[in-house]
Amino acid sequence: MPYRLTVIGTGYLGITHAACMADLGFEVLGLDIDPDKIRRLQNGELPIHEPGLQEILRRGLASGRLRFTTSYEEAGAFGDVHFLCLGTPQKQGEYAADVSYLDAAVESLAPYLERECLVVGKSTVPVGTAARLAAKLARLSPVNAAAELAWNPEFLREGFAVQDTLKPDRIVVGVASEHAEKILREVYEPLGDIPMVVTDYPTSELVKSAANAFLATKISFINAMAEVCEASHADVQQLSRALSFDDRIGGRFLNPGLGFGGGCLPKDIRAFMARAGELGADQALTFLREVDAINMRRRARMVDLARELAGGSFRGCTVGVLGAAFKPNSDDIRDSPALDVAVTIVQQGGKVTVYDPIALDNARKAHPELSYGSSALDAVRGAHVVLLLTEWQEFVELDPEELGEAVVTRKIVDGRNALNSEAWRSAGWHYRALGRP
Ligand code: UDX
Repeated sequence: MPYRLTVIGTGYLGITHAACMADLGFEVLGLDIDPDKIRRLQNGELPIHEPGLQEILRRGLASGRLRFTTSYEEAGAFGDVHFLCLGTPQKQGEYAADVSYLDAAVESLAPYLERECLVVGKSTVPVGTAARLAAKLARLSPVNAAAELAWNPEFLREGFAVQDTLKPDRIVVGVASEHAEKILREVYEPLGDIPMVVTDYPTSELVKSAANAFLATKISFINAMAEVCEASHADVQQLSRALSFDDRIGGRFLNPGLGFGGGCLPKDIRAFMARAGELGADQALTFLREVDAINMRRRARMVDLARELAGGSFRGCTVGVLGAAFKPNSDDIRDSPALDVAVTIVQQGGKVTVYDPIALDNARKAHPELSYGSSALDAVRGAHVVLLLTEWQEFVELDPEELGEAVVTRKIVDGRNALNSEAWRSAGWHYRALGRP
C-alpha cells in the first residue's frame, strides 16, 4: 500500500475507518487525546457496540498494521494521509454545530506536517468549514511543507458501520487539486468499483447535510401522515406499504413510529438550519423546522397514548418500557426517543422500568432516575402499561401470552409498528400503535 494513514478522533467513525483501512492492507495510526481510550483500543477493547468491528480491530492490531497513539508529533511524522474524524456536536442551547474539535485537531497536527501530505476531513460540518480549515492548515504548517486539505464526508449508519465503510453507496470528495483527487482515488481503490463524485469543498460538505435532511424529512413525512391517519381512523402502516411500491418514493426510511433520534439526524438538521441562517438562506430550510417539530411531537403523542391507557394519569401506574437505544442493534442512547419518553413519564409521576438488550449500561449511567429490568419479562413485571419503543428483534419475537402473565393489565403501545397486532390482540392485549386505528 503506497500511503500510510492516520485517523484522528476515535469515535464511532474514526475507529471504524481506522480498523477497516488497516484490514484493507494500509498501515494505520489512530490518534485520540484521551489516553485511557487509546490504551483500551491498543488492547483490542472496542468502546462501542458495532457488529463485526471487534474482530476487525483485533485483526488489525495482531497484524501490526494498526496502532494507536495520543501523540500528534508521531502522527505528523507517520501519515501521508490524515483523516479527521472528530465529532461536531450541537452547541449547548443553540442549533449550530460545535466544530471546535476539528479546529483543535488541525491546530495540533499542522506544526508537525513537515512533508507533503493530505489532510482529509470526514466529519459532518457546516458548509464553509473546509475552506476555513484549509486556510488554517496553510497558515500553521511549516513553511515549504505541502499539506493540502480535502473533504470526504462519511455516510455510515450505526449498526452497519463496517458494511457501509467497506461497501459505501458512493464516495464523495471535495478537492482543491487533481493531486488530492489522485491520492483519494488510490486510497479508496481497494474498495473496488464504488461511484465517486469529485467536487469542490462546499458541495462535498453540503451533500452530507442534504442527505441527512432528506432522510429526516422522509421519516417526518410518514409520521405526519400518521397524525392524519389517527385523525381519520386510517392505518399509516398500510398507507406506507402502499406508497412503497412506487419506485419514485421507495419504501426505505418510511417506517412510521416514534421518529428519529441518535447522534446525527437531529443535530445535523438543526446545524444545517443554523448555517443556512448565517448565509442568509434561512428561508430555504424553514421546512426542516417542521421536520424537527413533527419528530418531537411523536414523543409527546407516545406519552399521551400511554397516559390514556393508564387511565388518564401516571400516578400509581407502573410502565414497562422495552428499548433504550435510539435504534435497534446499537448501544447508542444519544437523543434516544425511547429514553426521552421514559423520562417524561417519570416526570409526570409514573414508575418506569426499562429493558434493552445492550444499551442498558449506557442508559443506567445517563438516567439513574429510571429503574431497569434484567430482561423484557423482568421490565414488564407488574406493569399496567407496556411500551415498545425500540424495535429490537428480541422484542418482535416476544410471546404475548408469556408477557401477559407478568403484567397487571394487558395494555401495550407499539411505538415502532413492529409487532404482529393480531397475535397480541388475540392473546387478550389492548394493542395500540401510533397512526393506526
Ligand atoms: C444516520 C444516517 O443514516 C447516516 O447516513 C448518517 O451518516 C448518520 O445518521 P444513524 O444515526 O446511524 O445514521 O441511524 P439511521 O439508521 O439512519 O436511523 C436514524 C433514526 O431514524 C433512528 O432513530 C431510527 O429509528 C429512525 N428511523 C429510521 C425511523 O424512525 N423510521 C425509518 O423509517 C428509518
